[in-house]
Amino acid sequence: MTQHIVAIDQGTTSSRAILFDEAGKPLSVSAREFPQHYPQDGWVEHDPEDIWRDTVAAVQDVLTDETVAIGITNQRETVLLWDRESGKPLHNAIVWQDRRTGETCRRLKAEGAEEMVRAKTGLLLDPYFSATKLQWLLDTVPGARDRAEKGELAAGTIDSFLLWRLTGGKSHATDITNAGRTMLCNIHEAAWDEELLELFGIPANLLPQIHENAGIFGETDPALFGRAIPIAGMAGDQQAALIGQACFSRGMVKSTYGTGCFLLLNTGGEAVRSENRLLTTPAYTIGGERAFALEGSIFVAGAAIKWLRDQLGLITDAAESEDIARAVADDHGVTLVPAFVGLGAPHWDPDARGLLTGLTLDTTADHIVRATLESIAFQTRDLLDAMRADGTDVPSAIRIDGGMAQNAWFAQFLSDVLAAPVERPESHETTALGAAYLAGLATGVWQGLGDLSEKWRAAARFEPDMAESRREALLADWQGALRRAMPQN
Ligand code: G3P
Repeated sequence: MTQHIVAIDQGTTSSRAILFDEAGKPLSVSAREFPQHYPQDGWVEHDPEDIWRDTVAAVQDVLTDETVAIGITNQRETVLLWDRESGKPLHNAIVWQDRRTGETCRRLKAEGAEEMVRAKTGLLLDPYFSATKLQWLLDTVPGARDRAEKGELAAGTIDSFLLWRLTGGKSHATDITNAGRTMLCNIHEAAWDEELLELFGIPANLLPQIHENAGIFGETDPALFGRAIPIAGMAGDQQAALIGQACFSRGMVKSTYGTGCFLLLNTGGEAVRSENRLLTTPAYTIGGERAFALEGSIFVAGAAIKWLRDQLGLITDAAESEDIARAVADDHGVTLVPAFVGLGAPHWDPDARGLLTGLTLDTTADHIVRATLESIAFQTRDLLDAMRADGTDVPSAIRIDGGMAQNAWFAQFLSDVLAAPVERPESHETTALGAAYLAGLATGVWQGLGDLSEKWRAAARFEPDMAESRREALLADWQGALRRAMPQN
């Protein structure tokens, strides 16, 4: 009997549903872009009703009678509060890129809280994570804290909001990879932590139950899709991409180029502590087996290409950037630091802002386009250097995915700058595939991780092909520009 799985991939700029068959092949895709809200400098919000409406419509577009399970993957850290009775959000969701709690993080750091937070969560005190955003919601939305204390409200990241709505309010749960990004979860115990809840002033009754990644999270309300379908897998999008890329052994690395870029190194059962400002994060828990990852998070990757298109009008679509980068001989000394929302790993500077250097009278728009693509490779290099400095072995190859991975010029430049081979898989849908794999593992469509590893195939491999002296010169320019983007660091 044919068995299909629907993966919901709720990302930062679009809500999508992808239908997979038993071979892990995508059969159909439905995607909807939704509006971003920027109420103030550095603030980013999403309307949860947009996300909900688009997600349901996307699932309806691809759903078949043969669908046996749904998996959810999502933009991580983005958090919201909703009413348990009506299911209505109290405020827009505060997005992972939002910097409004920078001051709170600075204060907590000055009070010496970072060491405890790091030891328990593997994270650094940065506005990126959910805890201070949730605290802001409770302190700012009129009546929210009182109502939360009375048990009238629920909180969660996008995965748990979607699950709540999909199950008609029957299930308030999340998974360990999403919980691990809230800054409220002790990742070694896979449980909400009292000391952290106290530090951020979060009532425990607001939070969802934490589950493993592959298992039954609930069933869809039959009113939505005509029948009850098990929701059988869940993971934050970067961990889902790690699973979709079949990076199941210690030492395997993937780098995903979506809105941001996230490099995850599987460190097996060991939660490796970084001395170089990388994050320690749950990779997955499947069948009781826990894996951790070291993560480097860059806030702006594809978002910079969107900026070239929507704000500067230098390109009309993302694919055009590849032809432009190829057409110019070099970047003509132009360097872009895309610190549009501060800088993430390994710098963690919420106050850094974007910078373009090396401009001359003969600089063209094409040089700026090329410098934008280059900046994303340089940032990936900084992450890999931090991993090396942490004593991890250089992986034999880096598996890449996400929109920019389709840009062959970028993939080659990345390999040149990293001085390491870069591999691109056959599947263009690794994040969604990861969510489908989890749901399929829980419902017997696939038997185990070995089964999934065998399906992974490289469609293209890029070998480094740049003179060392040139690489060094490019990286020196990059480091110089970076320092200027972070004057107070
Ligand atoms: O941590 C944020 C991340 O999960 C967002 O992913 O794919 O929207 O860049 P993406």
